[in-house]
Amino acid sequence: MTFHTLDELIADGVRGRYVLVRSDLNVPLDGSSVTDDGRIKASLPVLAKLTDAGARVLVTAHLGRPKGAPEDKYSLTPAVARLAELASFKVSLAKDTVGGSAKASAAALQDGEALVLENVRFDARETSKDDAERGAFADELVALTGSHGAFVDDAFGAVHRRHASVYDVATRLPSYQGDLVRTEVEVLRKLTTDTQRPYVVVLGGSKVSDKLAVIENLIGKADTILVGGGMLFTFLAAAGHKVAGSLLEADQIPVVQDYLKRAADAGTEFVVPTDVVVAGTFAADADYETVRADAIEGSSFGAQGIGLDIGPESAAAFAARIRGARTVFWNGPMGVFEFPAFAAGTRAIAQALTETEAFTVVGGGDSAAAVRTLGFADDQFGHISTGGGASLEYLEGKELPGLSVLDR
Ligand code: 3PG
Repeated sequence: MTFHTLDELIADGVRGRYVLVRSDLNVPLDGSSVTDDGRIKASLPVLAKLTDAGARVLVTAHLGRPKGAPEDKYSLTPAVARLAELASFKVSLAKDTVGGSAKASAAALQDGEALVLENVRFDARETSKDDAERGAFADELVALTGSHGAFVDDAFGAVHRRHASVYDVATRLPSYQGDLVRTEVEVLRKLTTDTQRPYVVVLGGSKVSDKLAVIENLIGKADTILVGGGMLFTFLAAAGHKVAGSLLEADQIPVVQDYLKRAADAGTEFVVPTDVVVAGTFAADADYETVRADAIEGSSFGAQGIGLDIGPESAAAFAARIRGARTVFWNGPMGVFEFPAFAAGTRAIAQALTETEAFTVVGGGDSAAAVRTLGFADDQFGHISTGGGASLEYLEGKELPGLSVLDR
């Protein structure tokens, strides 16, 4: 695929033009404060480039998954407040997406200023399966750009969504790939083409069902897949072990067993923890102990025990694999890192990623949030992707509508 770049748009001249930019401002919030502003920071350079060049920038973005109508808790207000703090240009937020506020604020926008429209998912047409409905919403977004508008997709985290603000607007305006999307795609390409080996993939997160497609696609491509997070218990169950009250997707056991067999044939090694940290309840201050992974029910919590982190022996074994790798992709925390008592496994992986000589990519909103929450800096890693589902779908080999629509 080839794309028109942001620099081409700027070279064409944008002063006084309305440029619609899709950004990914879907950040985690604690009430009205942003707990990880990584996506906001990652969105800034393109907005700054355009405003510096004199464009009138209209930003579309989503936050959370509202049900097609406004809801205060999904307002972009906190995200835009943080954006305004960081930005060197004037930025404001419209009270709606394509209503009176958006129209009036867009009309009043001056060269070099940015206006963020309220959460595009407050309009049910944004995510509609019906092309005509999405198209009608896209038409209204495009109408805000006047007669000489352009579209820049810089929301890598949303390129896997066939949504009006990602896909349909690109069929209606001259469209360009934002620098963030370009960088993300270049990085992820290194994980799929001419990948430096050994290629080690660390997968965590709660549900194995979210990771099946990527696991399937990595079999035969990755040398080693290290399994942590809630999904590890389905792997343990697939090996015939009891997991007490730990997270288990029993219906996925046969699928995991099939993958384990196929991986052995294809030369991909799965490494499943040998020890786990088991707690009596799911709570930050729960009592806990470390037990062998094949004897979880033998903990003092018996059948009530809940595995909340990988154990130190496993963390050390995973770290050793990471240190010996040339390429590492990590998606999903190893445990409930939000509770300090169960953050050690995730911390050990993050630490190993900062120490290895390998090219390291941290993918996924949760893993990115985890490394920052645990006090690591972005520049300690090769690349921290802004895409969660998007980076996984890229590695699954799926067509990403937000990318293919930009193909010229
Ligand atoms: C993400 O958080 O991965 C992106 O912002 C996309 O969000 P979505 O999964 O709600 O479409």
